Amino acid sequence: VPDLTTVLARSTELIRANQAPSGAYLASPSFPTYRYSWFRDGAFIADAMSRAGDAGSAEAFFGWCASIVLDRAEQVEGLIDRQARGALVRPEDHLHTRYTVDGRESDEAWETFQLDGYGTWLWALDTHVARHGGDLARHVAAVELVTRYLAAFWAAPSYDWWEEHLEHRHPSTLAAIAAGLRAVASWPGLRAEVHELADGTADEIAALIATRGVVRGSLTKWLGSEAVDASLIACVVPFGLYPVHHPIARTTIARIEHELAPAGVYRYLDDVYYGGGQWVLLAGFLGWYHAEAGDLVRARQLLDWMVRQADDRGELPEQVPHDLLHPDHQTHWIRRWGPSARPLLWSHAMLLTLADALGHPLCAPEDGNRADARLETAG
Ligand code: BGC
Repeated sequence: VPDLTTVLARSTELIRANQAPSGAYLASPSFPTYRYSWFRDGAFIADAMSRAGDAGSAEAFFGWCASIVLDRAEQVEGLIDRQARGALVRPEDHLHTRYTVDGRESDEAWETFQLDGYGTWLWALDTHVARHGGDLARHVAAVELVTRYLAAFWAAPSYDWWEEHLEHRHPSTLAAIAAGLRAVASWPGLRAEVHELADGTADEIAALIATRGVVRGSLTKWLGSEAVDASLIACVVPFGLYPVHHPIARTTIARIEHELAPAGVYRYLDDVYYGGGQWVLLAGFLGWYHAEAGDLVRARQLLDWMVRQADDRGELPEQVPHDLLHPDHQTHWIRRWGPSARPLLWSHAMLLTLADALGHPLCAPEDGNRADARLETAG
């Protein structure tokens, strides 16, 4: 069984090997349905690579994000304009959540309208520049455009982190948007009106969550729901909607611990995807919260659980196929899409992130031309 150091080294290696020359990261190289680059997964992967010292990898991803948006500037301006005029904008009219590594939409049917990834990109870019320095100026056009896009549509119901429930508004999505906008609100080089728009929108989002997204002191899966979802951890760490010791943060985390975290972490109680197993990346988020909140013992326990999910090649799955919430549903998914995803780059990213949050040294970037080690599938 590989140990922490081995799985960490494998993690940066796998992420590098599955980053295309375009900068896009494949969600999973061996699970056909995930041979795309998601804004959400990618932003957390880029943040992990930034932490691991591979600034080039993170910056290549941020540049890919910017090109996706700028290549669709006309579409985005059109959407903003229609919204301003009160014209109908349908979910399928929006920017997508995932693209091929060379920046094309997929033809397959998908739950394409998800806004969290665009906010998470801005958050990750800001965090990266704070960590490594660098030039935000080259991102100004893309950042201004996506800020105006998010400010126009943040209040629209959209698919959540798990690409479900288009009919609802989800605090985890809203918090990702707010975190991105908060970051942008103080960036140099943007127009004052964009700063104000970003800041004002982030305030509105926080106010909406506080009034409609909290029940009995806990954040909820969507506005009007009573349930929790493990993606809510991100509202606190890293998105900072509430400080780690705020009563709402504590109550939310306590519910997630109690209802969803027997060892690893379930997404939510009704989850039937592959039968509803425990997710490696969510153990990473929960551990990250505890590391930031000062409970290093609990954080370490979650890190150790994550490492134990690695196979003998050091590869981490998306979810673990035992102790399922709804085992009757597992076969349906295996028949449809094959065994569940492994390796999942986002799982590896969250292992790197949690290890780093606990002060464990991450593997330094290799010398030489790292781009050579990257995936050669674009074009
Ligand atoms: C998850 C998404 C994720 C995608 C790619 C889906 O099953 O619900 O959160 O972005 O896989 O990893």
